[in-house]
Amino acid sequence: MSSLAALRSEFPILERLTYLNSCSQGALSHRVRAAYEEYLAGWDENGAEWEHWVERAETARAAFARLLRAGAGEIAVTTSVSQGVNGIVSALPLEGGGDRRRIVISDYEFPTVGQIAHAQELRGAEVVHVRPDADGSIPVERFAEAIDDRTALVCCTLVSYRSGHRQDVAAISALAHEHGALCLADSYQAVGALDLDVRALGVDFVTGGTVKYLLASAGLGFLYVRRDLLDRLLPTQTGWFADEDIFRMDISDYSPAADARRFDAGTPPVPNIYAGVAGVSLIEEAGTAAIEAHVAGLADRLVDGLAELGATVVTPRDRQRRGPLVCVRSSDVAALVAELQAERIVTSSREDKLRIALHLYNDPGDVDRVLAALAARRHLLA
Ligand SMILES: Cc1ncc(COP(=O)(O)O)c(C=O)c1O
Repeated sequence: MSSLAALRSEFPILERLTYLNSCSQGALSHRVRAAYEEYLAGWDENGAEWEHWVERAETARAAFARLLRAGAGEIAVTTSVSQGVNGIVSALPLEGGGDRRRIVISDYEFPTVGQIAHAQELRGAEVVHVRPDADGSIPVERFAEAIDDRTALVCCTLVSYRSGHRQDVAAISALAHEHGALCLADSYQAVGALDLDVRALGVDFVTGGTVKYLLASAGLGFLYVRRDLLDRLLPTQTGWFADEDIFRMDISDYSPAADARRFDAGTPPVPNIYAGVAGVSLIEEAGTAAIEAHVAGLADRLVDGLAELGATVVTPRDRQRRGPLVCVRSSDVAALVAELQAERIVTSSREDKLRIALHLYNDPGDVDRVLAALAARRHLLA
């Protein structure tokens, strides 16, 4: 296991910038750059390296499985969260006026999840939103009010991209199961920064991707599907890489793989897989438990410093109720992000909130620098 401080030198951007934007895009490492170069070199030297590419896709599947403590047969390799969620809803019998047509989503879902849920209205679904309380949290009781025996699927999110709140996915999933519904958790704002275990979460599906805390690029994601559900879930959104025998090249029937590969689709996103495997290897070298503890310590320092400045921190102070993202209200967030950028501090925003994201390569100096910059701009904090 490498020390987090030693891994900092993998990320050249940190020599120039204080990088606090992993909630949008993880920093580029030497290793991920080298992985892209390896892909290009192989293509240049050998042309199509199909067998190697398929092997790389399986390496990515195994790496995602280790990160989630799932079996490799429970992981689909996707190009995005959207592909995973579309695959799942395509396997739900929403048409035909049956009794289970409700999809419950929290107001903290990423737009793609909400939009895919509402698209199912065209197939007969009813979408119910679970709204946050005035303090920004969504207690499990709000889910209890929305989930009933008509519910087919509950969508929740491990950590909100908008506010930094962590949802009690295990409790939400237990509620869904009490009513015979399935539960999907979006882990994008958590995976790589928190230590995850799909059995402890108790969920049926977990989606995520490599752009953020997994330190790689756009165009690669995963979908975990609980093993004992596979028999009864037949995706109608599919492709030849989901077939039980990809290279049979058979156009006469639909015979999907027995395992979660049935949720793969077309040609794998090969360049992104090279990068993704390299990004995940950095996370595994650091260890997710060590990253989670490191990030929690930095977030404590940040939240306390923000409180001293009199800022309105939207993200809870309690470590169990937040992840790597801290959100703070601003009276003019666009100006604030731009002014921080001018000081070489990279952050981002959603609505009226500044987003400060912490990861394995951040250190207390980064937190102190952003706090000092914010202290000089108290007028932009609401
Ligand atoms: C919580 C969350 N879900 C999903 C996504 C992206 O979904 P997709 O992979 O479909 O682009 C993001 C960010 O891009 C996100 O923050």
